[in-house]
Amino acid sequence: MITFAHVSDLHIDLGERATERARRLIGRLKAMSGLDAVLVTGDIADHGTAAEYRLVRELLAELQGPVLVLPGNHDVREQFGPALLDRDASADEINQVVPVGDSDFLLCDSTIPGESGGRLSPVTLTWLKEVLAERDPARPAVLAFHHPPAVLHIPSVDAIRQTGEQELADLLDGRPDVVALVCGHAHTAATTTFAGRPLVVGPGCVSTTQLPVLGPEVLEPQAPPGYAIHLLDQDGRLVTHFRPVQVRLGRTP
Ligand SMILES: [Fe+2]
Ligand SMILES: [Fe+2]
Repeated sequence: MITFAHVSDLHIDLGERATERARRLIGRLKAMSGLDAVLVTGDIADHGTAAEYRLVRELLAELQGPVLVLPGNHDVREQFGPALLDRDASADEINQVVPVGDSDFLLCDSTIPGESGGRLSPVTLTWLKEVLAERDPARPAVLAFHHPPAVLHIPSVDAIRQTGEQELADLLDGRPDVVALVCGHAHTAATTTFAGRPLVVGPGCVSTTQLPVLGPEVLEPQAPPGYAIHLLDQDGRLVTHFRPVQVRLGRTP
């Protein structure tokens, strides 16, 4: 079994509010024992500048174990790769396989440069197909990306979700070794299913999206940052717990 923390949407913009919320959240994770990894599902920087990623790197360096990162629509591949993955500056998709204990993380780039919504590009779909063909199906795999490939019934989020999801569902057909999907982007903790598997949306760090049933605002002003703790059994069963982090509440942008 592995235990991993899941945080998302830090939106580091060099401003005090986003930095403070990220610092508190990372401090909370740093104080934990027994985490096998921390997964950050994108929108790590807000504008994708080199200066923002320098601060992101400094904040994430507080964490002890493996830190898995993937880009969101606010990230910029050419800056993200060199700053957080020691890659050359490149506009190519950032796709990674990262083993953690007895499981593998398949981290896909769901971004479309210049757009808020997402889609797995032909390059990424081909990459994923090849990874699935070559991997050991006895090891559970978690598929992670930024954009949820399903409607969450929040209009502002659904308008910029991951489309082209049927191609992904087709790829996963007959691959029970991909046991769960995790993502961010929605700035709200949510669970649903995708292609018969759990799809878990990590809570946002910088802000929380308002649910239509709770009010007309786009964001829920007083909501604290949150994180998920996922426990993945060797038999592929995922258990998820959500927790808030106490912060001095600043103005919601
Ligand atoms: Fe975001
Ligand atoms: Fe996003």
